[in-house]
Amino acid sequence: MSDHGEERLFFGRRKGRPLRAGMQRRVDEDLVPRLVPVETAPANATDPRDWFPQPPRAVWLEIGFGGGEHLAWQAQHNPDIALIGCEPFVNGVASLLRHLDDVEGDRVRIHPDDARDVLDVLAPQSLERIFVLHADPWPKRRHHYRRIIQHETVARFYELLKPGGILRMATDDPGYLVWILARITAHPDFRWTGTSMADFTERRDDWPETRYEAKAKREGRMPAYLEFRKPAQTCQG
Ligand SMILES: C[S@@+](CC[C@H](N)C(=O)[O-])C[C@H]1O[C@@H](n2cnc3c(N)ncnc32)[C@H](O)[C@@H]1O
Repeated sequence: MSDHGEERLFFGRRKGRPLRAGMQRRVDEDLVPRLVPVETAPANATDPRDWFPQPPRAVWLEIGFGGGEHLAWQAQHNPDIALIGCEPFVNGVASLLRHLDDVEGDRVRIHPDDARDVLDVLAPQSLERIFVLHADPWPKRRHHYRRIIQHETVARFYELLKPGGILRMATDDPGYLVWILARITAHPDFRWTGTSMADFTERRDDWPETRYEAKAKREGRMPAYLEFRKPAQTCQG
């Protein structure tokens, strides 16, 4: 059940190998103070800056952070930013908590569940960046409805970004790439930030490799990198 009452289906895995004792202790002790308070946050009206003891300059969101390497890297390299990470896979949450030992300050909040719970509570224009890196491609046609990138989520990302805000996505699945491009280009206002073909095939310097991306490359699948901007001048939410 989501915090707003309706049944919401989640299609990924939440548990993998049992956590080693040290990782389990980390989850038990370190996760609770970092939890996103989705249960009590007002729908469509929550300023995520209020979730941090020192209000950050801006808040970034990563959906499906996997092992958390990218999220922790962004937190380390952007000390004026706070990040929210969503990942229902408990082994990934434990991995992120370990990486956060290297991050200064209390600047990361975690939702160990479906990212859409967080999308629901945030206020319009409350995020500066959204990352959806190598989201599950659900390649079978009958599973396409499970993909996180849908027309509705793209519209919600747009609403949640500040003017000038950035949406970054990546995938190594050609079918999912076409699906993502169809949905993002159907949105009337998102603008591609690239200028050349290299912007699809090369990561920018401030975009570290993720664990899933490294695996895809080892297995011969080359990723596409996608970056879109909400125009800086906009009258819309
Ligand atoms: C293929 S993995 C990629 C992980 C990581 N981004 C990387 O590149 O290494 C996709 C991740 O998205 C997570 N995920 C799937 N659906 C999600 C959802 N609705 N909300 C948050 N995370 C989700 C999965 O648990 C999984 O860890």
